[in-house]
Amino acid sequence: MPDDPKKKQVLRSAAWFGGQDRDGFNHRAWMRNQGLPSHVFDGRPVIGICNTWSELTPCNAHFRDIAEHVKRGVWEMGGFPVEFPVMSLGETLMRPTTMLYRNLASIDVEETIRANPLDGLVLLVGCDKTTPALMMGAASVDLPAIVVSGGPMLNGWFQGKRIGSGTAVWSMSEDVRAGKMELAAFMEAESCLSRSAGHCMTMGTASTMASMVEALGMGLPANAAIPAVDARRYVLAHMAGRRAVEMVREDLRMSKILTRAAFENAIRVNAAIGGSTNAIVHLLAVAGRIGVELTLDDFDKLGHDMPLLTDLMPHGKYLMEDFYYAGGLAAVIKSLGDLIHKDALTVNGKTLGENIAEAQNWNEEVIRTPQAPLKERAGIAVLRGNLCPDGAVIKPSAAMVPKLLQHRGRAVVFSSIEDFKARIDDPALDIDENCVMVLQGAGPKGYPGFPELGNLPLPKKVLKKGITDMVRISDARMSGTAYGAVVLHVSPESAVGGPLALVKDGDMIELDVEKRRLNLEVSEQELAQRRANWTPPKPHSDRGWVKLYQEHVQQAHLGCDLDFLIGKSGSAVPRPAH
Ligand code: FES
Repeated sequence: MPDDPKKKQVLRSAAWFGGQDRDGFNHRAWMRNQGLPSHVFDGRPVIGICNTWSELTPCNAHFRDIAEHVKRGVWEMGGFPVEFPVMSLGETLMRPTTMLYRNLASIDVEETIRANPLDGLVLLVGCDKTTPALMMGAASVDLPAIVVSGGPMLNGWFQGKRIGSGTAVWSMSEDVRAGKMELAAFMEAESCLSRSAGHCMTMGTASTMASMVEALGMGLPANAAIPAVDARRYVLAHMAGRRAVEMVREDLRMSKILTRAAFENAIRVNAAIGGSTNAIVHLLAVAGRIGVELTLDDFDKLGHDMPLLTDLMPHGKYLMEDFYYAGGLAAVIKSLGDLIHKDALTVNGKTLGENIAEAQNWNEEVIRTPQAPLKERAGIAVLRGNLCPDGAVIKPSAAMVPKLLQHRGRAVVFSSIEDFKARIDDPALDIDENCVMVLQGAGPKGYPGFPELGNLPLPKKVLKKGITDMVRISDARMSGTAYGAVVLHVSPESAVGGPLALVKDGDMIELDVEKRRLNLEVSEQELAQRRANWTPPKPHSDRGWVKLYQEHVQQAHLGCDLDFLIGKSGSAVPRPAH
């Protein structure tokens, strides 16, 4: 850092705004139409506020307010804030799945940053994929950047009970199918669920990724849990704006924070909070961009024996609002003691250890202690076997019936989600609670886009017996708000000829989570025969993004980034436009 950084630093933005020539004139003159005075072009840090606001992304619909608070902080510290939009990814509306567009949004983010006069960044993220998309794109440029999550919605309340985003939808819709809930009550619950601005307030993927932001050191303390409508969320945004200016002056780039130690912290924290399985593909992808070696097996190795410390839906009773009042993520991290790399640097210039030093747990019902965890071992288990040579994952804490984690059953195979929907409630379908439901064609290339279909609803006739869980296996993902004995991310996926494509009705499948095993009990000879008869599905499109995606997306165990996006291209100033 220079002795007097304010005076000596020549910033990237000076290549646009610093010249007295025709280009400098152009760059400044058009910006002035927004009412900007001369002094904003005096060489001060230009902070890009990368905004995923959209009315089609309800979880991020309050982001124009958040951006205004970030701007206050930037101005206050002598910076020059410029807000810009990028592709927004709304989990509930986009089809076939937001995951098809995560990498596309990351390209938008990366190229917009590099092409413009930006010295530092504040990334506004909320709904599930917006967090990894912005982090991936920004990591490939590697400027100083700070992430601000939009915060969870207030708790949902219905008939005197907490109801959680996603989680309640899955359980209530099963109750309607089982005849345990009236349709009118189900409809009434709709307006009781999403009571305020913010993202899903369960420990689903959005809350998980907001927690990952904090655990990685990319967000300010308390980023994970402050409710979206709590005034302190706006204070955090304000402080992030201030800090982004300082980070530019300190040249504190993403690569100085996103180290291997930071990712190890994130994996452990994800296990302790019972976070979403989606964090696996997102952390692998961000690591790939920033250049940190991380593998699927790291998630099992580092996380499998972590205690589950949060009693939050989908695995528990409470919600993110309760989590914040109980002490939030800092209280969890502090209780992990030496399992955390406390010397990992964070965006506020302090170490993670310094940030959590004063943390307190105010409610041991919501945030359990390692001595009395909700479950002894919570992490994600990585399975291997002839059904998933490159791996598959399961979140044991999400299983409703723990004995299903060691199970042998007869396969009932669905070749697509349409096939599943057409047959699952057919009284003639030969299925019972001991069967293993198998879904094919839901992987990254196969769907396309790797949708959240893995938590297949149970057959009505099984639900009516009072059964709440069955083993389900697919090459799909699962919503972080969902639950069940669900094996996900089977790799290689069926659409590229992975063994999942070869499973037939009646095959026996053995799942043994303790032994990390997932086996199809079919002879090699028979599998070779089936493989010889297998024909790959036709591509979904011969043009546009879907074609590019299908040709380049990597498999689940590698994080599903496009192969040519791995790594960084840096922040060098591009050639002039005129
Ligand atoms: Fe946006 Fe859940 S739908 S976070």
